[in-house]
Amino acid sequence: MNQSINILAIESSCDETSAAICSNGNILSNVIATQQIHEQYGGVVPELASRAHLEAIDVVVAAALDKANILLNQVNAIAYTKSPGLLGPLLVGSGFAKSIALTQNIPLIEVHHMQAHVLANLIENKKGEKVQFPFLCLTVSGGHTQIVYCTSPFNMEIIGETIDDAAGEAFDKTAKIVGLPYPGGPLIDQFAANGNPLKYEFTEPQIQGLNYSFSGLKTQFLYFVQQQTAANPKFLAENLTDVCASVQHRIVTVLLNKFKKAIRQTKVKYICLAGGVSANSYLRKLFFELGVKHQCKVYIPEFEYCTDNAGMIAITAYYKYLQNEFATLESVPNARASFWPATLAVNPTH
Ligand code: KG4
Ligand code: ZN
Repeated sequence: MNQSINILAIESSCDETSAAICSNGNILSNVIATQQIHEQYGGVVPELASRAHLEAIDVVVAAALDKANILLNQVNAIAYTKSPGLLGPLLVGSGFAKSIALTQNIPLIEVHHMQAHVLANLIENKKGEKVQFPFLCLTVSGGHTQIVYCTSPFNMEIIGETIDDAAGEAFDKTAKIVGLPYPGGPLIDQFAANGNPLKYEFTEPQIQGLNYSFSGLKTQFLYFVQQQTAANPKFLAENLTDVCASVQHRIVTVLLNKFKKAIRQTKVKYICLAGGVSANSYLRKLFFELGVKHQCKVYIPEFEYCTDNAGMIAITAYYKYLQNEFATLESVPNARASFWPATLAVNPTH
């Protein structure tokens, strides 16, 4: 008798078409197809994203099954990202998942993308480690910046979040100001590696409690670049590495100063990162240092589970499966971030 619980998961909320297989909580495959078409537009074009998902989804799902050495008839449940995200792309994933649920006669599981980013920390790394509850997670992506306090897979509290731009957006917008293509975050990281993070000083936004704001920093940076370039048209060409290092330093220290406060408030012993910005080498370095200073164990998921991926949807679905949390075929995606079981600290003053 086959005792395994095999879950096929689909993620299609933005510009990555991804499918993964999770067997008894272990990720056997995590196939990700990143859409290249958006680069030329400087950002994700929703309608183009929907079409690209349609073109890729069956190949990606077949590759995930193949890589995991699992047949479709061995899959016990199918999971999909219900929200938040772009509606067209979400509909492609949900339609595909529902058709498999119907034809294979297996349960459907709906997953919240942000909960899944946090629970990616429950996927074991190559050393067999994963995060332990209770923990604090700093979720930093192109669309979100949140500090989440977790005591179980289903018990989460958002104790801080951005009131305007997300951290990834701050990276991408500052990159655009200095003429770098989208997505500029990884390029800022690369140039910053050879620059002086303390050369130019940008002020830290003064926001109450554990919330963040990045829009003022973006404006401050824009004026700074305009003024410097007016005085010296070659300013950027001559100082790009220091400019990148300095703005990266400010974004990362803003992120960590609030996170430090959150550690003191919650007294957790485990801290972790989630979302695409966790690839940032400066953030990773300072995050590990923060762990040492506050005697917290640091966990950062393997990179493939940090950016948008179906592995994180699969692990979340696995815990939902164990709780019998299934959806009906009437389940419809929701572009907005509703339905997450996490509670939101209404007035986060921790
Ligand atoms: O989680 P993600 O893949 O997609 C969502 O937004 O959901 O995150 C993408 C974001 C982009 O803003 C990208 O510029 C940023 O993550 N990013 C980075 C780095 N790698 C990706 N930002 C700074 N440094 C990096 N190395
Ligand atoms: Zn994401």
